[in-house]
Amino acid sequence: MKKPMVSIAIAAVVLAVVSIVALGGNSSPRDPMTGQNEFDIPVQDPVLVAEGGDLYRANCAACHGSNLTGTAVGPSQLSVVYQPGHHPNEAYISAIRNGVPAHHWDFGDMAPVVGLSQGDMDRIVTFVRETQRIEGFEAYPPR
Ligand code: HEC
Repeated sequence: MKKPMVSIAIAAVVLAVVSIVALGGNSSPRDPMTGQNEFDIPVQDPVLVAEGGDLYRANCAACHGSNLTGTAVGPSQLSVVYQPGHHPNEAYISAIRNGVPAHHWDFGDMAPVVGLSQGDMDRIVTFVRETQRIEGFEAYPPR
């Protein structure tokens, strides 16, 4: 009578361990130039990601693309130049608030994006980081 219960308990423990290992082993972005996993973007709050996604689509996607991979008028936000070590969150806030003179690409300057609160901007960055975390980065310059 006792044995099946023990087996079930062991099976449950094994399943739990396997799930934790599988989730923990979730691959994070690799630097396409070095192949190294060095960005360590943490998992972002899903509620803020969802809200940031709506704000991103309304304010940024026309130039940076709805899937972040860029358009004819703006660069891909998945370019490795936008990894957090090179463009930290403050660089995003500054780009939104003050605009950006063209310096990495030939698309021209980015004008400031008006009408966004600090919370809105933080949510947009949260969405961008989560997408970068999941999708990884493209080489710069693009090949
Ligand atoms: C009208 C088009 C347009 C819109 C809208 C736009 N961008 Fe840009 N953005 C650009 C262009 C063009 C560049 C490239 C500048 C360069 O050559 O480095 C750029 C560059 C950037 C950069 C790089 C900043 C740096 O320091 O190099 C960030 C970050 C960025 N955009 C974020 C955003 C976010 C977030 C939004 C929405 C709130 C947004 N952009 C909306 C066109 C746009």
